Amino acid sequence: MQERVARTMVDFAQMKAFAEDPLVLTSGAGIRVTDVEGRTYIDGLSGTFCASLGHGDARLADAGAAQLHRLAMAAPTMATNDRALELVETLLGMLPDRYAVVKLFSGGSEATENAMKIARQYHKQTGQAGRYKILSHYRSYHGGTGNAVAAGGWPAWRAPYEPLAGGFVHLHTPDPYRPPFDAAPWAMTPDRLAATYLRLVEEAIELEGPGTIAALITEPILMSAGVVIPPDGYLPGLRELCDRYGILLIFDEIITAFGRVGTTFASELFATWPDIMCLGKGMSGGYAPLSAVVMTADVARPFWGDPRDLVQFHSGHTYGANPVACAIGLAAIAELREKGLAKRAAARGERLQAGLAAVAERHPAIGDVRGRGLLVGVEFVADRGSRARFPATVDIGVRVRDEARKRGLLLRASHWMLVLAPPLILTDAEVDEIVSIVGDACDAVLPGLPAAPGAGA
Ligand SMILES: Cc1ncc(COP(=O)(O)O)c(C=O)c1O
Repeated sequence: MQERVARTMVDFAQMKAFAEDPLVLTSGAGIRVTDVEGRTYIDGLSGTFCASLGHGDARLADAGAAQLHRLAMAAPTMATNDRALELVETLLGMLPDRYAVVKLFSGGSEATENAMKIARQYHKQTGQAGRYKILSHYRSYHGGTGNAVAAGGWPAWRAPYEPLAGGFVHLHTPDPYRPPFDAAPWAMTPDRLAATYLRLVEEAIELEGPGTIAALITEPILMSAGVVIPPDGYLPGLRELCDRYGILLIFDEIITAFGRVGTTFASELFATWPDIMCLGKGMSGGYAPLSAVVMTADVARPFWGDPRDLVQFHSGHTYGANPVACAIGLAAIAELREKGLAKRAAARGERLQAGLAAVAERHPAIGDVRGRGLLVGVEFVADRGSRARFPATVDIGVRVRDEARKRGLLLRASHWMLVLAPPLILTDAEVDEIVSIVGDACDAVLPGLPAAPGAGA
């Protein structure tokens, strides 16, 4: 098995280490997956934020199978298909009236990549050809394709592929836990913090030249930045700045939509709606590659004209709006709504955060537990007072993740964070099981950590 595993590459994984202790999954049922050795794990990350409805859902499998027998591929450059049209109607029916057009794709990166292209083309076709720059946040992740990597804000994921596309400008992460200010920032009210971050954004807009900026893309909750929930007022403030400066606001809701954060869309949670919204992952429950770019009537209008005007969207992907993916998406959305999973995620998420906060009480190295719904992060610190991190070489998150895996739980880790995002169908008892495993894994790793210089509790 190790030799076979060494002949592939797993996303973001160092294959030398991975091949020594590979994880090869073969099946799944409910919130659990089973590996080739017959070991079962709780899927604490829903694949990667996709499998909101759990594994082995017969309704979704049947929806895909029925569509495979009916029509599997629908000439994407010449036709659309009935399932795609149904899905578009369903999505628009779930969103405020201002949204009018949906373009379907097959992955999150395709959605963000094309959202940025739509923004640029929109400006070219509305007499503002000088607007091409894209603003995004440091520490963000928007996917693995060219423009998406350029918009992303973690050096490690950018540097190997430089030089990247030009015209991308990064803003400070609106992190309430770790802002880049000297004066005890955690003593600031959320309003002041939001206003301060917004001042930095406005300064960037002014210095770049407002007439050069096409769009600002952000996740409403920035998962890769460390499940960062911007301070109250920040997202409405971005909306206001974008309106004032003629910039299109794009929300990357690839992770946050379809109940993950306790509401159907995170935009709802923050009462702030973008001009363009990117959807993916939970939209098909992870049962098919499916994503979407939703746009307002204002954004869509300049793409409507005579063939000779050449104002159509000049791009597409072979598997975009694939009928099988759309049929599965329709079934997944129906199930999400029938089971009231967004509301359920809000309640289970509170229980998960409360359980993890109790673990933090016995571990000073846990600096913060935060999240919304079933998107929850745990941040490690060497010192709760200063919020200083341990050096990356201590690799706490990864060590806790490995201990959790030994105990039957899969989760995401970096050296300073854990992220949990289990399927939205989980029960209270399963939440408690996750908390107990994370607690045991922390008990195994954290007491043995080297003391931080000058660390207090
Ligand atoms: C916020 C966000 N945007 C975009 C993407 C890219 O999606 P995909 O991996 O489906 O291309 C991801 C993937 O994890 C993501 O987390």
